[in-house]
Amino acid sequence: MTPIRPSKHRSRSDFSQISSISTTAARDPVNAQAADIRKRMTDTISSCTETSDRLPLQAIAAMSENRVIGRANSIPWHLPEDFRWFRKKTMGGILIMGRKTFESIGRPLPGRTTWVLTTNPSSLPDTVEAFSSWESVLERIHRDKPHQRPYVCGGEQIYRLALPWCADLFLTVVHRTIPDGDAFLPEFNEFMEFAEIIEESCDFRIVHFRNRHYSS
Ligand SMILES: NC(=O)c1ccc[n+]([C@@H]2O[C@H](COP(=O)([O-])OP(=O)(O)OC[C@H]3O[C@@H](n4cnc5c(N)ncnc54)[C@H](OP(=O)(O)O)[C@@H]3O)[C@@H](O)[C@H]2O)c1
Repeated sequence: MTPIRPSKHRSRSDFSQISSISTTAARDPVNAQAADIRKRMTDTISSCTETSDRLPLQAIAAMSENRVIGRANSIPWHLPEDFRWFRKKTMGGILIMGRKTFESIGRPLPGRTTWVLTTNPSSLPDTVEAFSSWESVLERIHRDKPHQRPYVCGGEQIYRLALPWCADLFLTVVHRTIPDGDAFLPEFNEFMEFAEIIEESCDFRIVHFRNRHYSS
């Protein structure tokens, strides 16, 4: 696994920066719930700091030039090269996704473990593991330190919860504009910074972003 700086190496100001994300969101009632979730996650991360543990989370996503990631619960493009990248990158890992994304895929993907967030675990097959909150995902990674790398892989609701807590984002930017999308990649510039371009093609480019709260 790519080593991620132990969170004990983060300074207190790193955490106040994280808290400021919550404060900003708290001013906006629409985001009040998100602010509350982030506050609770900040507490979880802080407890990781005390025990010098790491959160080896990475996110992987594909979006159009106008930030669309989905339409009518499916991905509105078919790019086999990007699917191959996703497969290669995540093979052997844990895919963390929302229930709607799991339903759109329809089955656990081979060679990977699937964790699904849902408030209704009985709706899921026993080939996947259900989680009733984002905190329970973080706590599970923190407690069990799985040897497989966990990948956050959508959809919009889950990226919104999880992206601030991912060390890396691997983003395929598809060179299209999708006018009628209904799922979008949330903004991440507040906590992610450009690291490198991994691949360029005429249809898309794959960009690596790194969480600036995870670097010194
Ligand atoms: N382009 C890409 O990279 C990419 C990747 C993945 C998905 N997608 C697209 O994204 C779209 C789906 O995104 P979405 O936002 O509609 O759905 P989603 O994030 O995949 O799933 C949402 C569901 O996750 C569960 N959930 C959300 N927050 C939770 C929490 N805090 N605790 C417990 N469960 C929670 C809920 O399930 P319950 O309702 O069962 O409680 C909720 O309905 C689809 O169009 C899909 O194709 C695109």
